[in-house]
Amino acid sequence: MTDQTAVLVEGLRKSYGGHTALAGLDLGVRAGTVHGVLGPNGAGKTTAVRILSTLLTADGGRAEVLGVDVLGHPERVRPLIGLAGQYAAVDERLTGRENLEMFGRLYRLRPRTARARAVELLERFDLAEAAGRQAKTYSGGMRRRLDLAASLIMAPAVLFLDEPTTGLDPRSRQAMWRVIADLVRDGTTVLLTTQYLEEADQLADRISVIDGGRVIAEGTADDLKRQIGGDRLEIVFAAGDDLAAAAAVLTRLGAGTATASAEECRVSVPVSGAEVLAGVVRSLDEIGATIVDVGLHRPSLDDVFMALTGHGAAPGGEGAGPARQAPPEPRTGSDDDVGLVKA
Ligand SMILES: Nc1ncnc2c1ncn2[C@@H]1O[C@H](COP(=O)(O)OP(=O)(O)OP(=O)(O)O)[C@@H](O)[C@H]1O
Ligand SMILES: [Mg+2]
Repeated sequence: MTDQTAVLVEGLRKSYGGHTALAGLDLGVRAGTVHGVLGPNGAGKTTAVRILSTLLTADGGRAEVLGVDVLGHPERVRPLIGLAGQYAAVDERLTGRENLEMFGRLYRLRPRTARARAVELLERFDLAEAAGRQAKTYSGGMRRRLDLAASLIMAPAVLFLDEPTTGLDPRSRQAMWRVIADLVRDGTTVLLTTQYLEEADQLADRISVIDGGRVIAEGTADDLKRQIGGDRLEIVFAAGDDLAAAAAVLTRLGAGTATASAEECRVSVPVSGAEVLAGVVRSLDEIGATIVDVGLHRPSLDDVFMALTGHGAAPGGEGAGPARQAPPEPRTGSDDDVGLVKA
């Protein structure tokens, strides 16, 4: 890890017609690290990544990759970067190996070099056995890995990953996390967008939380959690009728305003320590609320996100998938599972 800035974004602006997608975005990514850009649907993540990877022009502001001005010299930036997009860009009719060789040829590698690089990457991404099969028979996780492999044909110094695990099941997601961690260990700088708070928590050295096309918070996962401070007391009730009265009790005894979730029969409130617990249980007993479960939690990034934006990162909160569902994949008997988005 060095102190060199690999990606620098200052005041980046982009509108589509009258609609502002980026409203003065600032980012700084240190070389050799993973930087997470965390934001809900429509926050501007893909727009930022497309500008940084020269696929889209900005309306204003500054963007540099390894000191090269992206807006002024896109052709000098392209050899430095790789991009794996939100939707895997693989050719369905080609086999895994052919897909990678094709990318190699697009980058003007000699046929033999392209073939060797394809074999190496298929091996690395656990696709060697499936190398001879058409990509349309691949599961969601396999496609994502193939797409990522394609972005690495030229061993780029800086890699942009736009929601690399959206729609993948937990096991495929963890496989992808290991791959990304390995790349960074080998010196690649990764800028990764995600809606999964857990993903940012696991992978990112630093996180920029964005909403409405600008950064609303920045720091390590711990920094962000500290920002909203304290623990969180969560109480689950037997019946929904108790929620309003319980929320009033928790707001009185806790360290902030309690929030209630009707469908989960749950009320939660920030607290400054476990001492409050006995008093809360006593007061809830007095109002006749039946408690099913009590938990004291350290803040999660989800709480951070709620506190910062007033809404969850993904519909349904942490662990829930994004609204969009991956297209159905044909099952192939592979042990790599199709991405299922939890409701
Ligand atoms: N080609 C386009 N034309 C018009 N509006 C667009 C276009 N692309 C994006 N937008 C709008 O710009 C905003 C930012 O979109 P963007 O795709 O960058 O968000 P995102 O953070 O990647 O969202 P998601 O999590 O859904 O992928 C959104 O409000 C979106 O509707
Ligand atoms: Mg996007």
